[in-house]
Amino acid sequence: MKALILSGGKGTRLRPLTHTIAKQLVPIAGKPILGYVLGHVADAGIKKTGIIISPETGPEVRSYVGEGNRWGFQVKYLIQKKPLGLAHAVLTAKSFLGNDDFVMYLGDNLLSHGIKDAIERFKKSRPAAMIFLKEVSDPRRFGVARLDESGRVVQLVEKPAHPPSNLALVGVYLFSKRIFDAIAAIKPSGRGELEITDAIQELLNMGLKVESEKVSGWWLDTGKKDDLLEANTTVLDSYVATDIRGSVDSQSQISGRVAIEENTSITNSKLRGPVRIGSHSVIENSFIGPFTSIGDYVTVRDSAIEHSVVLNNSVIEGIERLEDSILGRGSKVLRNETRHNALRLMISDDSIVEV
Ligand code: G1P
Repeated sequence: MKALILSGGKGTRLRPLTHTIAKQLVPIAGKPILGYVLGHVADAGIKKTGIIISPETGPEVRSYVGEGNRWGFQVKYLIQKKPLGLAHAVLTAKSFLGNDDFVMYLGDNLLSHGIKDAIERFKKSRPAAMIFLKEVSDPRRFGVARLDESGRVVQLVEKPAHPPSNLALVGVYLFSKRIFDAIAAIKPSGRGELEITDAIQELLNMGLKVESEKVSGWWLDTGKKDDLLEANTTVLDSYVATDIRGSVDSQSQISGRVAIEENTSITNSKLRGPVRIGSHSVIENSFIGPFTSIGDYVTVRDSAIEHSVVLNNSVIEGIERLEDSILGRGSKVLRNETRHNALRLMISDDSIVEV
């Protein structure tokens, strides 16, 4: 069993963050999403991992993952020159995958339970493919599966305007080499991509076995701003344990689960977990509320923040209340004391400011 991790694409739905950072490297609770994905691959005991990268963000992904030593597997980088679809990515990896079974894991998806048990079940029953499904409120954003009364998959359709069910295809798939025959038979979709959803439908058309399982824990697709905030909330809730390495003065109060990395100082502030604060940050006269992730080298003064993600090197000063926000690296949100309530902005392309 090999792993194929998809870490290419343009991340258009996560702009402006993705103008300067690969979407799979956006940190959630202090760790890139891709880091959680690779952790799941390692937990499943997989030793050979291919990572699909794009020419644009590939170098950044490579510098984070390196040779894969941290996860105990070997990494082969595979360049997909253009984002021509998930099935096209599988074709790009053909010589790496050979005749082996493989798990394909989208580098911006996260599953609470990882993939170890699913791989065991796949090895026992040896279908052509195994897919994972989750009930969602808006299936039009995903691949959608229709099952018959006995629970067998009978139809798969990518981002349908009129979904046949509310069961979305999760971005984790297990395949045998038969997927290559199916991909050979499909054509690009309306969005010009070779869809993996269509390829799995083709396996069904070929009369091959496609097994499905409903995901019991959480599943996160971090592709958009609100999804990213939801992922941050879920991951903080699931993983953050109290661990205070920085310094907290006697005027400060900490409640709930709060992790504070080294060389960070908390002065005259209230922190209500789950919260995670990186290293070398300064929190002064402030309130940091639940579900907030703060990166390294961040300054927060005279402000209140809740349910937000603040990346490295940012500064927040004099802000009465900041909620549901994502601040990219090196952002500044400052109070402006001019007499005429003017907003003064210098924001990057595709930024969103709600006043
Ligand atoms: C892709 C798949 C879709 C699946 C989704 C899961 O969508 O095409 O079937 O439900 O991942 O994250 P995309 O992110 O390419 O829009």
